[in-house]
Amino acid sequence: MRGGRVQLEGLHKSYGEVPAVRGVDLDVAPGEFFSLLGPSGCGKTTTLRMIAGFETPTSGSILIDAADVSRVPPNERPVNTVFQNYALFPFMSVEDNVAFGLRYQKVPKADARRKVAEALEMVRMGQYAQRRPGQLSGGQQQRVALARAIVLSPRVLLLDEPLGALDAKLRKTLQIELKSLQESLGITFIYVTHDQEEALTMSDRLAVMAGGLIEQVGTPAEVYDGPATAYVADFLGSANILDVEVVGPASEGRTSVRVGGTTVQCGNRPSDSGDVKLVVRPERLSLEAPAETVPSIPATVARVVYQGPTTDIIVRLATGEELVVRQPSERVAHPQPGEAVTVYCREDALRLLHPGALTHPGSVT
Ligand SMILES: Nc1ncnc2c1ncn2[C@@H]1O[C@H](COP(=O)(O)OP(=O)(O)O)[C@@H](O)[C@H]1O
Ligand SMILES: [Mg+2]
Repeated sequence: MRGGRVQLEGLHKSYGEVPAVRGVDLDVAPGEFFSLLGPSGCGKTTTLRMIAGFETPTSGSILIDAADVSRVPPNERPVNTVFQNYALFPFMSVEDNVAFGLRYQKVPKADARRKVAEALEMVRMGQYAQRRPGQLSGGQQQRVALARAIVLSPRVLLLDEPLGALDAKLRKTLQIELKSLQESLGITFIYVTHDQEEALTMSDRLAVMAGGLIEQVGTPAEVYDGPATAYVADFLGSANILDVEVVGPASEGRTSVRVGGTTVQCGNRPSDSGDVKLVVRPERLSLEAPAETVPSIPATVARVVYQGPTTDIIVRLATGEELVVRQPSERVAHPQPGEAVTVYCREDALRLLHPGALTHPGSVT
């Protein structure tokens, strides 16, 4: 099987007065595992449904392998969809569920049987072919739904939160299975999720969405290590986001800012004036002085929160803002609440970013 290229150009969708998607441009490469990531209501499902053909764009176009399919009915697009709620036929066997889609393709019976068997093997459900969906666990039902989608040899598979109804442990297992299935099939996956960990672990690239728009596109490492906005930093992983006063440019593309009553150098210079936040990941902060000289801020320990492998030390700066410092739990003796400490951070981990779609400055999630 071969993966299709998917291009979205200026895609808009409004429901009456309500804009759901407000101008999405994307170019998904053949065979790519691409995720649309964002909070509930940001327009992920609407975007996916337009690619599938279940919704008509208000404006803009959808190209699959350079052919404009914007007005092509769903069943004539080289695309198939897997939904969160499986949508299997309860009174049909697993085998008949998977074979169902093939009825509309003129496939000889023997070929159909072979294709169904292959698809079921691929999702490791071969031994359950005669069962009914009600006799399967949620994870097994979702595997059947996957088999039913891939048996049709789509060039693009659309998946809308397919693991959303499963428990955490099973989700982890299926994430790994789905990723390796995608690699062996070579078809393009467009995967919708609100779960940042899922998007980071599975995707070749991802788009972070907010309010019907894409805020950033990149590989997981690009987006995690180099968030374009404070919103992206906040949505992916944890981030300390602080109000700062920009004192002025420092040498070599750095910026001096005042934060927590101290002046420190940040490792970048914002592209234009306008509101900026200081963004720093908790794991990039330390309470131990490193060998080289780095920016430091005096603080007082407010709370210590044990989290298993890591412990969060929440410290209060002279100006009252709080910062989270994340340390490996086993490594160090953690300070006590009330203790005076110094927070150290390399310049390159202190980033000045525009807020983007961020609505809750100061929050750490
Ligand atoms: N059929 C519809 N009619 C009216 N509004 C809708 C419809 N579908 C989605 N919306 C609205 O469009 C926005 C985006 O929805 P959706 O694409 O489902 O978001 P997501 O999948 O990211 O949670 C939401 O504000 C939602 O309420
Ligand atoms: Mg949705």
